[in-house]
Amino acid sequence: MNFADTELVMGILSHQGYELAKNIADANVILLNTCSIRDNAEQKIYNRLDHLKAYKKNNRGTVVGILGCMAERLRKSLIEEEKIVDLVVGPDEYRRLPEFIDSAFGGEKGIGVKLSRTETYDDIIPYREEGLSAWISVMRGCDKFCTFCVVPFTRGRERSRSLESIVAEVKQLSERGFREITLLGQNVNSYIDQGKDFADLLAASAIVNESVRIRFTTSHPQDLSEKLLYVIAQHSNICNYIHLPIQSGSNRILDLMNRTYSIEHYIDLIKHARSIIPSVSFSTDIIAGFPTETNEDHLMTLQVMKEVRYDGAYMFKYSPREGTKAFSMNDDVPGDIKSKRLNDIIELQQKISFEINQQLIGNEEIILIEGSSKKSDDFLAGRTDSNKIVIIPRGNEIFTGDYVKVKINNATSATLFADFVEVINPSKVKVLKTA
Ligand code: 5AD
Ligand code: SF4
Repeated sequence: MNFADTELVMGILSHQGYELAKNIADANVILLNTCSIRDNAEQKIYNRLDHLKAYKKNNRGTVVGILGCMAERLRKSLIEEEKIVDLVVGPDEYRRLPEFIDSAFGGEKGIGVKLSRTETYDDIIPYREEGLSAWISVMRGCDKFCTFCVVPFTRGRERSRSLESIVAEVKQLSERGFREITLLGQNVNSYIDQGKDFADLLAASAIVNESVRIRFTTSHPQDLSEKLLYVIAQHSNICNYIHLPIQSGSNRILDLMNRTYSIEHYIDLIKHARSIIPSVSFSTDIIAGFPTETNEDHLMTLQVMKEVRYDGAYMFKYSPREGTKAFSMNDDVPGDIKSKRLNDIIELQQKISFEINQQLIGNEEIILIEGSSKKSDDFLAGRTDSNKIVIIPRGNEIFTGDYVKVKINNATSATLFADFVEVINPSKVKVLKTA
């Protein structure tokens, strides 16, 4: 989400004649786009500001700005406490950035943190470098108010962009050669534009160009519709991959989190999705050590992980956020127990990912080639539909952006290794997937 917002900000600024500096010494303006989701995300920014303090001593004219959720959450106090900060601009006020920067050059400090019920930046073209993968923000904000989460306070109410402008953006990206587009929102399943829901948007995006893969994130288990599952099944280029945060395996904790679904509903949804899209894979988010979580609750989380067998998971220790409902609950799970539970969750997920990947050995998969592997130019890296990284030996006939059929020959919990079979054209991707 923040990468997408940074592209939006660069879109607004490049329209005013600003250019991206190659390195910090060339920059007149330094903007940090920040996240408040957990305390450690904010600590990273404070560390960065400490470094910038030293830099600014010798570069007094440089403007330093804080954007994003920390700007929204901490507002004036950021300017009062962090002397080097010249401007603080929240997620709904980016249109005013050029104005704030001009004032900052004149020595005035600026704060723009009003949240909007309507701002979607629908007409702004984000600044994107050439590449293979792009994000499109389809909605902003969140109305779910999970009790642990700061997002509804920092990003405001839910609002959707127009379907027409999103589809036009998919078309432009496809014409520029992008091969993978991820539709983004805090809760994409709440998307609505003139009676068109997220399933309609996904279908409309998929038919723009069959050789462009479409991904999306994030889905809330309460709102994911059967219609959406059928749309995924029907379109060969919509990836068979759903990120479906569960947060906890205990109904009591889910209730305290205000997640509005039960484990039974969640498991039924997974089963239903698997019956409609047989090869679908899932990833999730899990929080360890929410207030009052007992060892029994924790064991239920491990149990549900064993039952679902996620392909991947993002796993966190609970971090109290001021202003949220959970903040007034007692953060009573001791730090060492939170760490132990998080370790249990990570270990179990690694074991499951390893087993799932081992079972893929001998299978043929279609991957989209992204470029050289990180470790060696002799190898190429690509991704499966289910978002797994696959490494294959470099061959003269393979190019970045190609769809390639490969045969898996080895696997770790994080990476698959494969032999090249053939380069295939996009229409064949469809035949192979639905066969
Ligand atoms: N503490 C820990 N994890 C959190 N998340 C959101 N808020 C918190 C918090 N206060 C996690 C949730 C969410 C993901 C984006 O971040 O798992 O799905
Ligand atoms: Fe936060 Fe819940 Fe909204 Fe996700 S659905 S952004 S966790 S409030």
